[in-house]
Amino acid sequence: MKSIILAGGSGSRLYPLTKVASKQLQPVYDKPMIYYPLTVLIASGIREFCLISTPHDLPRFKQLLGDGQRWGLSIEYREQAKPEGIAQAFWIAESFIGKDSVALMLGDNIFFGGDAFPRACAAFRSGATLFAYRVNDPERYGVVEFGVDGKAISIEEKPTHPRSHYAIPGVYLYDNDVIAIARSLKPSPRGELEITDVNNEYLRRGTLNVVRLSRGTAWLDAGTSTRLHEASAYVHSIEKRQGIKLGCPEEAALHRGFLTVGLLEDLLTTMPACEYRDYLADVAMDARRHGQRGA
Ligand code: TTP
Repeated sequence: MKSIILAGGSGSRLYPLTKVASKQLQPVYDKPMIYYPLTVLIASGIREFCLISTPHDLPRFKQLLGDGQRWGLSIEYREQAKPEGIAQAFWIAESFIGKDSVALMLGDNIFFGGDAFPRACAAFRSGATLFAYRVNDPERYGVVEFGVDGKAISIEEKPTHPRSHYAIPGVYLYDNDVIAIARSLKPSPRGELEITDVNNEYLRRGTLNVVRLSRGTAWLDAGTSTRLHEASAYVHSIEKRQGIKLGCPEEAALHRGFLTVGLLEDLLTTMPACEYRDYLADVAMDARRHGQRGA
């Protein structure tokens, strides 16, 4: 499975922060926001990425992430000229997807805990797999309604009167049919190619699977200044309490076997003296001590 990370948009609710750097490059405590979704995907076993952003921001993402090789990944880049909808990602990244299945993740979605994503990616065969997360304010999201048998029966985009408390987070797994489905879409009344229309097509075909995320998973949305601050505070409190880092792509790549300890040690020599390097040095030392992938 390949992955598209969609990191465009206007980030207007974070103005003036987003006047010079996009939302997904803003710090969430000690790392750029994009590190968090990228880490979740790496931890799910994905190593081929296409990052989509605005023509203005794309050079900064390239500067930050490069071609991914130093982390044992491959990262391609594509432009989205205007924010014309999440489902436009499949038009833009069609040549990248090729004949594969694809995980689409929004670059401002932050998850911690649980193993729902690695499990779902490993189990994925066909159709679409979405996730559902109970929230207090479902009207801000795509909302899924479940029937008595626990299966999804409706999905509505930002409904005024939500039929459930289950929002659909910005991570979606699709088979290759998604390209044709996205190609057949027409813009919605708000002028966007809607991901909810893609999901409803899978629902209509009877090939939609919705996994409810358990209480052990945290899903944070960093779209407003308050929520961005709360996400930072959350990361800070966990990192301080546990002495681990969240959203660390190098660590996830090491654990997945995409990166050897030797390559991680080489990477350390390219970093300035900082807390992040000290942490990774400990991770590398631990891996050596436990004889993990020490090539
Ligand atoms: P939103 O939060 O809906 O929009 P935004 O990021 O532009 O922010 P604001 O509402 O404050 O102006 O977008 C959700 C995510 O999807 C975000 O990571 C940006 C991304 N996105 C795109 O990259 N392209 C698009 O066409 C759209 C609609 C969203």
